[in-house]
Amino acid sequence: MSEQSASDRAALDGMKVPYHIGIIMDGNGRWAKERGLPRAMGHREGAEALKQVMEAAADFGVKELTIYAFSTENWSRPPQEVKHLMMLLDYFLERELRRFDEQGVQLRHIGRREGVEPKRLARIQEAVALTANNDRLILNVAFNYGGRAEIVDAIRAICKAGLSPDEIDEETISEHLYTYRSPDPELIVRTSGEFRLSNFLIWQASYAEVYITDVYWPDFGREGLLKAILAYNERERRYGGVTVES
Ligand code: IPE
Ligand code: IPE
Ligand code: MG
Repeated sequence: MSEQSASDRAALDGMKVPYHIGIIMDGNGRWAKERGLPRAMGHREGAEALKQVMEAAADFGVKELTIYAFSTENWSRPPQEVKHLMMLLDYFLERELRRFDEQGVQLRHIGRREGVEPKRLARIQEAVALTANNDRLILNVAFNYGGRAEIVDAIRAICKAGLSPDEIDEETISEHLYTYRSPDPELIVRTSGEFRLSNFLIWQASYAEVYITDVYWPDFGREGLLKAILAYNERERRYGGVTVES
């Protein structure tokens, strides 16, 4: 175990580590702009940052991460940027897949398949199949993902299954979301200081703690994740109830 790893674990001693964390990886563009670099460089750096955060998550005992990689709304960005983000995903899958597999990462895709280029979709599905039995860290990649689209798709699936209105409850909805295999995230992290969900896990995050940091995604890293988990431990989760004074 590295020195850093040992000291981080000491900081987490006795702390609750969330099982599932959702991350809105935001601020790549501003990170680049501050350095006089093109936005594309920010995205590239953001992809590198993700590797560190995944490693840290597994090290800290987080079992599942859901990362917002590309939203249904991100198609409205300039074509050059969209193209770059798509290439980055291809490159990332091609270059890192073997390592992820060796590290015990199970990749899953959440998002709409329609609208994703068939070749790219096939590559994503290959990666999902290859890593399906890994269990050190589940990485849900929210790609072509929108929380509202997800709810619409769930309702369509429920209608197609022929369920009657009386049979539908909250669990039915959860079971038809892209995340049907995952417990709701206990913690949602957003980098770059924006106070909104931007259509991310809007059903699943209903009782999640939300942690927002000004740090841009490329700078978040292992330390950022540790701080987020420590902040989570300061929160009191009441679920609409009241705290009983002892
Ligand atoms: C997040 O960084 C990455 C994606 C949306 C893919 P941004 O590109 O949104 O960076 P800012 O918000 O413009 O700084
Ligand atoms: C959310 O970030 C989407 C991803 C991180 C993939 P955006 O930068 O697209 O969100 P807005 O536009 O600030 O709401
Ligand atoms: Mg942004």
